[in-house]
Amino acid sequence: MRSEFEIKPAEEPDVTRLQSLINASAFQTNGQGQLLPLNKQEIEALVDQGAFYCAWDGINLIGCVSIVEYAGLVELRSLIVSRGYRSQGVGQSLIRTAMEAARSKGYNELLALTNTSAIPLFEATGFKKEPRPPEKLARDCAKCPLLQGGCIEEAVVANL
Ligand SMILES: CC(C)(COP(=O)(O)OP(=O)(O)OC[C@H]1O[C@@H](n2cnc3c(N)ncnc32)[C@H](O)[C@@H]1OP(=O)(O)O)[C@@H](O)C(=O)NCCC(=O)NCCS
Repeated sequence: MRSEFEIKPAEEPDVTRLQSLINASAFQTNGQGQLLPLNKQEIEALVDQGAFYCAWDGINLIGCVSIVEYAGLVELRSLIVSRGYRSQGVGQSLIRTAMEAARSKGYNELLALTNTSAIPLFEATGFKKEPRPPEKLARDCAKCPLLQGGCIEEAVVANL
């Protein structure tokens, strides 16, 4: 059954649930997982900046996305939709929310690193494959457990 959902900026009381949602699918050294792990402080900081968005089905948190600014770039991160709510357009709505948020901050490009299987979704939303920027390698990849091998992430960029 198709769900009704709404997307809103995350608020402070959402932080613990966001942390559970993200870290249940975070990268592990065995190659499992699809998301960069985030601790509570990292999530709180982004929530304070208004840079985290939640998808809700009533009181159920069913997905999230964030935008992170660094080194003159803005990156879509922490995109996830709960399993029972996938294939209903929630992911694409979250990507569009991140694009609009980045555009409203004055950026004309939005970067994402995503796993091979989600690339068609990003391409369907206007992203194109690009080489991974050195700023990303230095900032996040350097501390990722998959740095030593097994990373299946590709960089994609959308013009806003
Ligand atoms: C990627 C993800 C957020 C998509 O969420 P979603 O709500 O299912 O996305 P949508 O319903 O908007 O779009 C799904 C469509 O995208 C396309 N698509 C292709 N490969 C896909 C994939 N691996 N995952 C999701 N969609 C994919 C298909 O057209 C798909 O349509 P279908 O479900 O009818 O086959 C969700 O699968 C997820 O949480 N995955 C685990 C975390 C993850 O990989 N995040 C991306 C890291 S940036």
